[in-house]
Amino acid sequence: MTDVELIEKAKEAARASYSPYSGFTVGAALITKDGKLYLGCNIENASFSPTCCAERTAFFKAVSEGEREFSKIAIVGGKGLDFTDFCPPCGVCRQVMKEFCGEDFTVILGKNGEEVKTLTLGELLPFGFGL
Ligand code: THU
Repeated sequence: MTDVELIEKAKEAARASYSPYSGFTVGAALITKDGKLYLGCNIENASFSPTCCAERTAFFKAVSEGEREFSKIAIVGGKGLDFTDFCPPCGVCRQVMKEFCGEDFTVILGKNGEEVKTLTLGELLPFGFGL
């Protein structure tokens, strides 16, 4: 799957976002090393702290299905499905990525139009904590 196709999947995933409090919809499309696709959206909660980001939803779906090896993730986010700017993953999601992925794991950020930003986990979380 190309990076552009993966971003389209992330946009599809964002349509399921449950975000009545922030109105900020996020979608993530995660690809395993053997090509399986897992989608995630952000899921908010009236009590706020139980909110789960789209990236973690995708990772936890995949890991709970037995997946352990990942190649890349595409992420989009914006108010009301309007992806005006890039939506880089929060620090907690970067740490979750670190648990399962190496420094070369690819993070593709998408927005409206064709522009894409491609980063590695090593760039997003330098000198990160791991056992
Ligand atoms: N959010 C994500 O889904 N991923 C991130 O990496 C950053 C933030 C969600 C959480 C919340 O539902 C909304 O965006 C606003 O913070």
